[in-house]
Amino acid sequence: AKNVGILAVEIYFPPTCIQQESLETHDGASKGKYTIGLGQDCMAFCTEVEDVISMSLTAVTSLLEKYGIDAKQIGRLEVGSETVIDKSKSIKTFLMQIFEKSGNTDIEGVDSTNACYGGTAALFNCVNWVESNSWDGRYGLVVCTDSAVYAEGPARPTGGAAAIAILVGPDAPISFESRFRGSHMAHAYDFYKPNLASEYPVVDGKLSQTCYLMAVDTCYRQFCKKYEKLEGKQFSLADAEYFVFHSPYNKLVQKSFARLLYNDFLRNASSVDEVAKEKLGQFSTLSLDESYQNRDLEKATQQLAKPLYDAKVQPTTLIPKQVGNMYTASLYAAFASLIHNKHTTLAGQRVIMFSYGSGLTATMFSLKFREGQHPFSLSNIATVMDVQRKLDSRHEYSPKKFVETMKLMEHRYGANDFVTSQDISLLSPGTFYLTEVDTMYRRFYSQK
Ligand code: ACO
Repeated sequence: AKNVGILAVEIYFPPTCIQQESLETHDGASKGKYTIGLGQDCMAFCTEVEDVISMSLTAVTSLLEKYGIDAKQIGRLEVGSETVIDKSKSIKTFLMQIFEKSGNTDIEGVDSTNACYGGTAALFNCVNWVESNSWDGRYGLVVCTDSAVYAEGPARPTGGAAAIAILVGPDAPISFESRFRGSHMAHAYDFYKPNLASEYPVVDGKLSQTCYLMAVDTCYRQFCKKYEKLEGKQFSLADAEYFVFHSPYNKLVQKSFARLLYNDFLRNASSVDEVAKEKLGQFSTLSLDESYQNRDLEKATQQLAKPLYDAKVQPTTLIPKQVGNMYTASLYAAFASLIHNKHTTLAGQRVIMFSYGSGLTATMFSLKFREGQHPFSLSNIATVMDVQRKLDSRHEYSPKKFVETMKLMEHRYGANDFVTSQDISLLSPGTFYLTEVDTMYRRFYSQK
């Protein structure tokens, strides 16, 4: 199979959200901390009628319907998620309800989990399958689905929720440059979920930021090394039109892109002009460890990177800023933002993706765009996703109602023997929702 990659995308996020500005006031945080400090505008969350299973049922059903894909044409289904609903039964098996109806139970794949990286692992599995000898000619389908919720405190504004479905196959408008890939995997306790009775993670915020930035650096170095070996020339920021990052909150994305510029400076790459070289000269003797702590370096690189950031990163930030951290779906929601904003000009261009999952696992990889053919064209993907309408038709909660919802969800997590309110007035037609969890912990869903 040639040009294996992404054929189609659909995104779903809950219609319920809270403005970061009102959360800021409610939490007693200083004005601007969440909106400017973290760079976030709004945050989506599941109410008691939605969860990672209902969101993924919605995303998959909608993708098949809107691109006219017969359920029998799917040969592999992989899910990335870090939201644990069952320690044994995969989310994938819930999604099989969609395929069983058409008589297709011949579908490989299960769930992949490591924090926000599971979606990338799932995507690589599908791409590798299509490129392999075991491929049977059918499509691969990847689903990233997560509900990111934090205990009250500084991490709470960095939540979010969404599901993304990605169709994988040959002759794709978005194909993998599979040889250009750099990974960094290590052991760290930066963000983890050891308490199985709670949906909330244990998080060392500062450490998680440093781990993330170190992973950006290491992956970029690996990526450049492989590119240079295969292409016989140096890679720099100038060699890709866009850079898409896993996005826990926008400020970290700004810092990450600035780190790439710093890397280019240290490598004496062509993307760094004389002015930048002069401004960064004073930082060339910093040790790597020192470079993560140095606020002047951070400020200088962010300032120098600003014009490049506006051109190469800003078009990828819409959904993550509006919806929040969607964990496994976060990187792909940023990617969806790029298609939404730039689909008319992307053909022929290259995008670099950075995936990070705490604990930690990270990969930087490269994709190339072509216009493609209907229904698998960039413009049709933008039409199907209909991002602006989905954002505009959301319903804002007050902080009080949001906190009440979080309390109810804490109570419901891991619980059995309850029926939901089944208040689905805010859901669009076609959305799946949770109706009941019975005494045997079996979950039941309906479609609006
Ligand atoms: N106006 C403007 N900016 C402000 C204001 C204000 N009033 N107040 C604070 N800020 C800035 C700070 O200077 C800081 O920016 P800087 O890093 O550029 O200096 C930023 O806002 C955040 O303020 P902090 O005091 O650093 O925030 P705090 O430590 O309370 O919490 C954190 C931030 C650690 C990110 C927390 O939200 C968290 O733990 N989140 C979850 C962990 C996470 O997402 N990690 C990322 C990688 S791992 C993953 O993907 C889950």
